[in-house]
Amino acid sequence: MQYRYCGRSGVQLPMLSLGLWHNFGSVDSYDTACAMILRAFDAGICHFDLANNYGPEPGSAEKNFGKILRDHLQSHRDELFITTKAGHAMWAGVYGEGSSRKNLIASCDQSLRRMGLEYVDVFYSHRYDGITPIEETMQALVDIVRSGKALYAGISKYPPELQEQCYSYLAAHDVPCLLSQYPANMFKRGSIAHTENSNLAIAARNGSGFVCFSPLAQGLLTPKYLHGIPENSRAARATGFLKLEQVTEERIWAAQQLSKIAEERGQTLPQMALAWLLTDSRVTSVIIGASSVAQLEDNLQTLNRLDFCDEELARIDCVLDKQGLAM
Ligand SMILES: NC(=O)c1ccc[n+]([C@@H]2O[C@H](COP(=O)([O-])OP(=O)(O)OC[C@H]3O[C@@H](n4cnc5c(N)ncnc54)[C@H](OP(=O)(O)O)[C@@H]3O)[C@@H](O)[C@H]2O)c1
Repeated sequence: MQYRYCGRSGVQLPMLSLGLWHNFGSVDSYDTACAMILRAFDAGICHFDLANNYGPEPGSAEKNFGKILRDHLQSHRDELFITTKAGHAMWAGVYGEGSSRKNLIASCDQSLRRMGLEYVDVFYSHRYDGITPIEETMQALVDIVRSGKALYAGISKYPPELQEQCYSYLAAHDVPCLLSQYPANMFKRGSIAHTENSNLAIAARNGSGFVCFSPLAQGLLTPKYLHGIPENSRAARATGFLKLEQVTEERIWAAQQLSKIAEERGQTLPQMALAWLLTDSRVTSVIIGASSVAQLEDNLQTLNRLDFCDEELARIDCVLDKQGLAM
């Protein structure tokens, strides 16, 4: 595994991290979930990304992760970097979602109980809810860190016009934002664009690390959908977040073209799509998802070929510039 520093901090993360959004819930195979976590850890993936609502049912990914930790990794806590978040719908009533202090403080306590942990490494505000003042949310993060329930604070999906405010508030309270988490993949390039006001540029200027989520566009940047919708894939499952209508002809065409370039590089499409995100050194890590150990093994091979020549990058851009690909 190779590691990168999170912005202006002394903390390193593996260039590939594992997220537990799908495939780790109570509706999924516990044995497969366990095998993926243990294989990831053995391969040097020490960063595991969770959120209070991951499942389904909501909370069950944290519960399963806690059980795996207890049963297999108990003596390794100091080698692990565990993150969780709050902000999306989690429990009934007006306090069960959003970015209020009320939601964040209760959520953090619940997450720690579910995972059986004394602290998480990063506690994130999962989203800006459009109403809660930034000061209220950021002060809740500061207090969670001060209470020892998280070592660092993070933000996810905050719009560019609010990012700076978050970083300033946290820094002024001596809890600099360690990580900013945004969607980024070949079909969704806005957050990592080479412009002054992309989420990545703002994070980097403010010393925050940057992690990309859904780097394979939930599976669209793999050979999985090239010949229809396979049974049990995310798009086929009722509990999957990838909707059938997102598997468009344009995206399948692009995946075919990109597969050819990947093949010429001696890589699979997912390996090339992950390596492509890591070409920008300001990206600390990409958080992958997986539904099997085989997928994880495939993705781990990414690190064997990270370099791109200008011609390859130009050919990739040429495919990605076609209309109708953006997600
Ligand atoms: N902050 C936020 O709001 C937010 C939002 C979304 C995600 N995240 C984080 O980001 C993590 C990753 O997101 P994601 O799961 O959408 O990531 P992703 O890597 O874009 O998609 C993962 C899916 O792609 C397919 N896949 C992966 N590797 C493959 C391979 N080698 N060959 C064929 N198919 C492959 C699998 O689909 P199948 O399941 O169909 O096999 C897998 O479940 C989440 O777990 C979560 O931690 C954060």
